Amino acid sequence: MMRQLIIAGNWKMHKTVAEALSFVQELQSSGLDSRVEVVVCPAFTALAPVAEALKGSAIRLAAQNMHWEAQGAFTGEISPLMLKELGCKYVILGHSERRQYDGETDEKVNRKVKAALEHSLIPIICVGETLEQREAGKTAVTVETQTRAALSGLTTEQVAGLVFAYEPVWAIGTGKTASDQDAQQVNGLIREIIAGAYGAEAADAVRIQYGGSVKPANTRGLMSQPDIDGALVGGASLKVEDFAGIISEAQ
Ligand code: G3P
Repeated sequence: MMRQLIIAGNWKMHKTVAEALSFVQELQSSGLDSRVEVVVCPAFTALAPVAEALKGSAIRLAAQNMHWEAQGAFTGEISPLMLKELGCKYVILGHSERRQYDGETDEKVNRKVKAALEHSLIPIICVGETLEQREAGKTAVTVETQTRAALSGLTTEQVAGLVFAYEPVWAIGTGKTASDQDAQQVNGLIREIIAGAYGAEAADAVRIQYGGSVKPANTRGLMSQPDIDGALVGGASLKVEDFAGIISEAQ
């Protein structure tokens, strides 16, 4: 199966509304290629204005997190219903920064995955090992545990529509990218786990990104791996020049 590459820019806690708007305007005028699906993930505060600015564009919108309930007494939270209303197509779930700083457990990630699907949002599920886990030879078991937990209770059809992002924690924001082979190995493992649990067809359809210090110079090598179907980009998604460079290298 030919999976369409998905390049997503996770802006994390960067960009005011004004900065977000000028980014998308510049990106749109930079002449994008439609073979790659391009997604931007602004902070909650910039989602509505960016959605407005992207009307009629092929660039898709994602949120960086959400709560699993549609509404309720959850002060400070944002629900899937609210994200859907704004026109989000995707939502990043289980990012390692949330796992590390905000008590995002595998169980919470699974609840959020189910809630996203109920509201027709496509989860971008992040998994990945820390440096300590890698050095202890626990990469595979960590990724397998996170992957299986995220998928618990889903139907085969739901699984087939998901996006995963393998983000080794030691490669995030450090400038140390996983080698093409290391990234391929783990992405391949995620696909195998899905194949084992849900069958080859679902595994073949799932898109699995790599994330962690992706930049224009390492994009081509990573994207040419058979099980790498795109990138989740942090730092290099903040400047149009870098992000557009990654998109064009990914062709
Ligand atoms: O979600 C993207 C991410 O965590 C990678 O960040 O800055 O290493 O590209 P960065």
